[in-house]
Amino acid sequence: MLTFGFVFGLLGSLSAVSACADGADGHTHDHSRRTVPIPVAPPTRPLVWGDLNIIHTTDSHGWLLGHQKTSFPEPNYSGTFGDFASFVTHMKEIALERDVDLLLVDSGDLHDGTGLTDGFPAGGVDAHDANQFVKQLPYDIMAIGNHELYIYANTLDMHTNFAPAFKGRYLSSNVNITVLNDKGQVVSVPVGSRSAKFTTRKGRKVTSLGVLFDFTGNDVNTTVQPVADMVKETWFAEAIKEEPDFFLLVGHMPVARDNWPAVFNAVRAVHPLTPILILGGHSHVRDCLQLDGRSMSLESGRYMETVGFLSANLNTKSKGNLTFNRRYIDPNVVSYEFHTNTNSRNFNTAQGLSITQGLNKLASKFDLSFLFGTAPHDFTLSRSPYPSNDSLLTLFAQNAMPVALAINNTRASIPNVMITNSGSQRFDVYAGPFTKNDQLTASPFADSFLFIPNVPFGIANQVLPSLNNAGANERRAMFEARESAEYGLGYVETTYRRWLQEMDVRNDGAARRAAANLTLGYVTTDACPGVGDDVLHAPLPFFDAPDFIGSIPPTVASEDTPIDLVFVDFISDQLLQILNSIQNTTVFTNSDVQTYSPILANAALGLYAQAAWN
Ligand SMILES: *[C@@H]1O[C@H](CO)[C@@H](O)[C@H](O)[C@H]1NC(C)=O
Ligand SMILES: *[C@@H]1O[C@H](CO)[C@@H](O)[C@H](O)[C@H]1NC(C)=O
Ligand SMILES: *[C@@H]1O[C@H](CO)[C@@H](O)[C@H](O)[C@H]1NC(C)=O
Ligand SMILES: *[C@@H]1O[C@H](CO)[C@@H](O)[C@H](O)[C@H]1NC(C)=O
Ligand SMILES: *[C@@H]1O[C@H](CO)[C@@H](O)[C@H](O)[C@H]1NC(C)=O
Ligand SMILES: *[C@@H]1O[C@H](CO)[C@@H](O)[C@H](O)[C@H]1NC(C)=O
Ligand SMILES: *[C@@H]1O[C@H](CO)[C@@H](O)[C@H](O)[C@H]1NC(C)=O
Ligand SMILES: *[C@@H]1O[C@H](CO)[C@@H](O)[C@H](O)[C@H]1NC(C)=O
Ligand SMILES: [Zn+2]
Ligand SMILES: [Zn+2]
Repeated sequence: MLTFGFVFGLLGSLSAVSACADGADGHTHDHSRRTVPIPVAPPTRPLVWGDLNIIHTTDSHGWLLGHQKTSFPEPNYSGTFGDFASFVTHMKEIALERDVDLLLVDSGDLHDGTGLTDGFPAGGVDAHDANQFVKQLPYDIMAIGNHELYIYANTLDMHTNFAPAFKGRYLSSNVNITVLNDKGQVVSVPVGSRSAKFTTRKGRKVTSLGVLFDFTGNDVNTTVQPVADMVKETWFAEAIKEEPDFFLLVGHMPVARDNWPAVFNAVRAVHPLTPILILGGHSHVRDCLQLDGRSMSLESGRYMETVGFLSANLNTKSKGNLTFNRRYIDPNVVSYEFHTNTNSRNFNTAQGLSITQGLNKLASKFDLSFLFGTAPHDFTLSRSPYPSNDSLLTLFAQNAMPVALAINNTRASIPNVMITNSGSQRFDVYAGPFTKNDQLTASPFADSFLFIPNVPFGIANQVLPSLNNAGANERRAMFEARESAEYGLGYVETTYRRWLQEMDVRNDGAARRAAANLTLGYVTTDACPGVGDDVLHAPLPFFDAPDFIGSIPPTVASEDTPIDLVFVDFISDQLLQILNSIQNTTVFTNSDVQTYSPILANAALGLYAQAAWN
């Protein structure tokens, strides 16, 4: 039998609230109130503390006000960054009482994800304002992520305004920025610092690095050195030469299937037995593994949906395997209070409240609650089949794109086929108010729409299936080549979606969801001993989606009827290639392509909501 605590939602969506009434808490809720209690499954077991403990965040991507929707499982992740700050303060107090070390670590990707980072007015810099709140947390080590490097101005802001606040502890071991020095000379320098050495409260000596995976999508005047080259640098050898009590290797690099072994082996070659703690990120999954018995690697999810906890017992003379523990905490006030033995009367610290208040002020300064319309129900990326009424991809391709692109468009009366890529949508749209923040979160990419006029309907109608199906045999090779190129450019959705799919399949998702005694959420299987998830969940349903999605084909007189073939510029090259492979009458080139509408992809959902959800 589960017991529930409560977090308070801003505005209850009726479906979410009524669903909790048939849950295990036995309460009924007043559906008319604007503030509704959302039942929250608390953790069932305390954290296992060691003599060294680490709280880990990664890939927060601007989710500093937490997940604010009432649809499941969003309340699981409703803790704000202010709540997190209060949690950290209480955890520090517990560490003092226990007389153990507690460190706070972040593995990067502070930019790009919500309106708090991306909703800045013209002339601003992404995440600059939100980062003022991140700076208030007592991070011991932070590492740079690839999302800090897509736009030079963002990297410069990290170099100039962010890194200095951490006094040598904002690490970019293999990432440089090109700037003008005091003498006006062009120089390449680390964005933060290459390495850090410090001593913990309990007197442990720590050597730390902050490594980025082999990212190739960075902006001009930023440099990412491949990890394999970094470990051959003289400075690297110097940094790891002296033996600390443990190595704290932080980095924006997945703990599995990436280059951590290169860094780990380089350290191990010099220090065969020194404990090594690795805190990774980037692939947005919960994961843990051990590269050997005196090391543990932890990765703590994404979007403030996970706060990681890692503990180790280093106070031992034994040269054998060390004891480690890890936990993936659902970031909400109930979890935070449970683990810090606090309650609603004494949980909030003044600093925590002020951070949340400041973030709310920032949200109103950016007008993030600007309302486009009210979503009638949830539209999800992978929890509903494509096509279906509950699919965000269906909503975008079949409704939003056609409605938005018809606005003020003289070609609107000409039949068309519209195509975009499913990667154009980033996050679910939930029932209730659809705001500027939701639009920035769900559909952020400012791609424009192009078209080729007078394509025979019969041909245009084959383009989408052909794109999704390009030559059964070539497809696999092409897919793999594309996947590895996309990986270098920072695209992680493939890894994340595979993780969701495996989670659903492995855990017999449908049965666990039907049993109704578990709440929805992540169910993690990793390579570390014991159960990692702090709250046991039933896995989210998972449905695969094609790479390309399109509008419902028009009804026309014949296969030869000329129509407009409309597509997002991002897929232009692939589309022309396909178009020329399915017919021989015309060789289509870029000169046949014209601009279809000034409306960009990131505005489509909002325009649709204004038209259809009011
Ligand atoms: C998590 O989501 C479920 C719905 O799947 C909800 O019932 C539960 O209260 C949430 N738990 C937390 C900790 O927020
Ligand atoms: C790179 O930075 C240098 C120094 O600020 C500048 O002179 C140069 O124009 C920049 N290059 C590009 C492509 O922006
Ligand atoms: C990074 O900056 C350092 C310090 O200026 C310089 O020595 C090094 O060559 C640069 N590394 C890269 C890969 O550009
Ligand atoms: C020590 O840990 C390693 C890696 O986790 C494992 O393979 C090995 O069996 C362990 N040894 C002992 C004695 O437990
Ligand atoms: C999907 O939506 C359409 C249009 O609103 C409606 O006609 C149809 O019944 C819905 N289908 C399902 C399965 O709910
Ligand atoms: C469409 O045109 C009207 C009238 O010129 C204008 O007010 C409106 O902003 C335009 N809509 C869009 C989405 O551009
Ligand atoms: C949930 O219910 C199923 C089926 O009734 C049962 O097998 C399982 O042990 C229950 N799990 C928990 C955590 O109570
Ligand atoms: C295009 O022409 C080639 C050579 O004549 C032929 O083999 C191919 O089947 C044609 N393709 C289509 C789609 O008509
Ligand atoms: Zn990320
Ligand atoms: Zn990343």
